[in-house]
Amino acid sequence: MISCDCNHLTYPEQNVTIPNSKTIEATKIAIEAGFHHIDCAYFYQVEEEVGLAIRSKIADGTVKREDIFYTTKAMEKCKDAGLAKSIGVSNFNRRQLEMILNKPGLRYKPVCNQVECHVYHNQKKLLDFCKSKDIVLVAYGALGTQRIKKWVDQSSPVLLDDPVLGDLAKKHKRSPALIALRYQLQRGVVALAQSLKENEIKENIQVYRMAVGIGVLK
Ligand SMILES: NC(=O)c1ccc[n+]([C@@H]2O[C@H](COP(=O)([O-])OP(=O)(O)OC[C@H]3O[C@@H](n4cnc5c(N)ncnc54)[C@H](OP(=O)(O)O)[C@@H]3O)[C@@H](O)[C@H]2O)c1
Repeated sequence: MISCDCNHLTYPEQNVTIPNSKTIEATKIAIEAGFHHIDCAYFYQVEEEVGLAIRSKIADGTVKREDIFYTTKAMEKCKDAGLAKSIGVSNFNRRQLEMILNKPGLRYKPVCNQVECHVYHNQKKLLDFCKSKDIVLVAYGALGTQRIKKWVDQSSPVLLDDPVLGDLAKKHKRSPALIALRYQLQRGVVALAQSLKENEIKENIQVYRMAVGIGVLK
C-alpha cells in the first residue's frame, strides 16, 4: 500500500509558502487518483483543510468514510470515543514498541509504526520485529524526503538520483520514484509519498500497476 501526503508546510528559511487551497486541491486529486491513506500531523496545521477535502470527496461519492485512513497520531481515548479507527505510533524503536506492548492494561496495541525508511535506511530488523507483532511499518522519507535545509545535509546523496534506482528504472521503464515505492510495497511496507503535484500524485499510484516485481533490491 502506498499513501499520499499533501501537507502544507511553510519554511521561512527556504522561502517556501504553499497556500492551504493547494493542500485541499492536492488531497482531492489524490483521492480521485485512488489513494485511501492520507498522512497528517498536528505539526503541519492543515488537518482542517485535509478534512474538508475528504468530506467533499465523500459527499460527491468518490469514496466512503470507512475506506479512508486518515492518520494523525491518536490515543486510546479517541478510539474509545469512536473518533479513531486504530492507533498508530511514530519513530518508535524496538525497545519502545516492546514497552508499549508489555504495558499492563494495554487495551489497543498500535497497528502501525511510522518511521524513516527508504533504500538507504531500510529498517530491516525493525520491519521483521513489527511483522512478528502484526504491526505495519509505515515508511516516511521513502522518496528521499523534501530535503529541507534545516533537517537534511544538502551534501548527502539525493535518493532519487541513485544509480541503482536509475538502472532499475530504465530496465522497467518506470521512474526512480516508482521503483523506490515498489521496493517498499514488495517487502510489506506502507510507503508514504509526499507531493502536491498532480503528475507526481497520479504517477505514484501507478505502483500497483507495475506488472513485474523489481527483484534485486535487498
Ligand atoms: N513521523 C515523522 O516524524 C515524520 C517525519 C518526516 C516526514 N513525515 C511524513 O512523511 C511523509 C512523506 O514526507 P517526506 O518529507 O518524507 O517526503 P518523501 O515522500 O520521501 O519525498 C517527498 C519528495 O518526493 C518528491 N516526489 C514525490 N513524488 C515524486 C515522483 N513521482 N517523482 C519525483 N519526485 C517525487 C516530491 O517532489 P516535489 O517537491 O517535486 O513534489 C517531494 O519533494 C509525509 O506524510 C510526512 O508527514 C513524518
